[in-house]
Amino acid sequence: MVTTILDAANPKHIELCAETIRSGGLVAIPTETVYGLGANALDESAVAGIFTTKGRKPDNPLIVHVAYSKDIKDLVREIPDVFESLADKCWPGPLTLIMKKSERIPQIVSAGLDTVAIRIPNHAAALALISASGCPIAAPSANPSGSPSPTKAIHVKNDIGGKIPYILDGGDCAVGLESTVLDISEATPLILRPGAVTYDELKKILKNVEICTEIKNQPPRSPGMKYRHYAPKAPLTAILGEPSETAEYIRAKMDSRTAALMFDDYKFDHPNVIAYGASDDFKTQAAMLFDALRTIDSMEITNIYAQVPEENRLGLAIANRIKKAAGKNITDLQKTRE
Ligand code: TXA
Ligand code: MG
Repeated sequence: MVTTILDAANPKHIELCAETIRSGGLVAIPTETVYGLGANALDESAVAGIFTTKGRKPDNPLIVHVAYSKDIKDLVREIPDVFESLADKCWPGPLTLIMKKSERIPQIVSAGLDTVAIRIPNHAAALALISASGCPIAAPSANPSGSPSPTKAIHVKNDIGGKIPYILDGGDCAVGLESTVLDISEATPLILRPGAVTYDELKKILKNVEICTEIKNQPPRSPGMKYRHYAPKAPLTAILGEPSETAEYIRAKMDSRTAALMFDDYKFDHPNVIAYGASDDFKTQAAMLFDALRTIDSMEITNIYAQVPEENRLGLAIANRIKKAAGKNITDLQKTRE
C-alpha cells in the first residue's frame, strides 16, 4: 500500500481521511501529544486493524477520542461526579479519563475490561476529523508496539509507511508525550500514566488523587504500563541524580559506540551526544524526547546513557518515559554514593 502524507490544513484532506475512517480504514492523526493511529471506535474490524498494524497485544486497551464532552454520554455507563470539573478545566487537552464503559464500546477497544479510556485532543485537525467522521476515533500512539511514540508525520511514515493509506500531517506535536491517564471509575481518582496534565494541577481540581505505583505480583491497573516501552534499539541506561554528577558519569563512559541523551546546559562536545532541552526546561524536554531517541536510533551505537530530569511537575512524565525505555537499567548516583 502507498502511504500518502496529507497536509491537515486542507479541508479536502480532512474529508478524505474522514471518508477512510467511515469506511473502516486507518488514518494516522495529529494530536497535541503524539500522533495516533485512528479507526472508527465502534467498528470492530477497523479496530482490529490497529492491533495488527502496531503489533499490539490484544490485552492492551485503546483510547477513544471524541470532539465534545457531550459525546461521551453513549460511551459510558455512568458519569462520575468529578467528570464535569475535569472536562471543564482540562479538555480539550492531554488528559485521558477512564470510566465504566457502555455496551456501545466493543470489547476489542477496551481489551475485555469493564472500563473505557476517553479524551478530547487539543488539535484543530484532530477535532475536525472526528467531527467529519461522525464517530468516536480509537487511536493508540502510531508507533509499532514498544518503540518511541511519533511526534512528527515523518516518524509515522518511517514506522508504519506502507501499512496505512494516509497520514494527516498537522505539524510537530506541541506536547510530545502521551496524555495523562486518570482512572475516575473508582472512588479515588488514580493517575495510571503521568503526562502533561500534572499531579499538582489535578490536585487543584480534585479533593483526592493518587499516583498509581506498580505493585509487585499484581496485574497493573493500566495494561500498557507492563510492557517495555518508548525504547530505542540499543539498550538505554537511565542515570538519576544531580545533573552535574550525571553529566560527569556519562562523560566518563563515552566512546564511539556509545550515545548520550543530555541536557543542553550539561552536554559536552562529542558526535554521539544528543541534547533535548535545558535541565530546567521540562516543556522542551517533553517535546524533544522521542525525536531525540529516534535520532539516537539512527546512529551506529551499541549503548545509550540518559540524563533524567527531576521527578516533579512535567518532569515526572519525562522521567517515567525514560525509565520505561531503560527497563531494568537504572543507575541512581545518589543511592550508589550512600
Ligand atoms: O496522548 C495519548 O494518549 C495518545 C494520543 C494518540 O491520544 N494515545 C496513546 O495511546 O498514548 P496508547 O494506546 O499508546 O496508550 C494508552 C494507554 C495504555 O497504557 C493503555 O493500557 C491505557 O492507556 N488504557 C487504555 N484504556 C484503559 C483502560 N480502560 N483502563 C486502564 N488503562 C487503559
Ligand atoms: Mg503507546
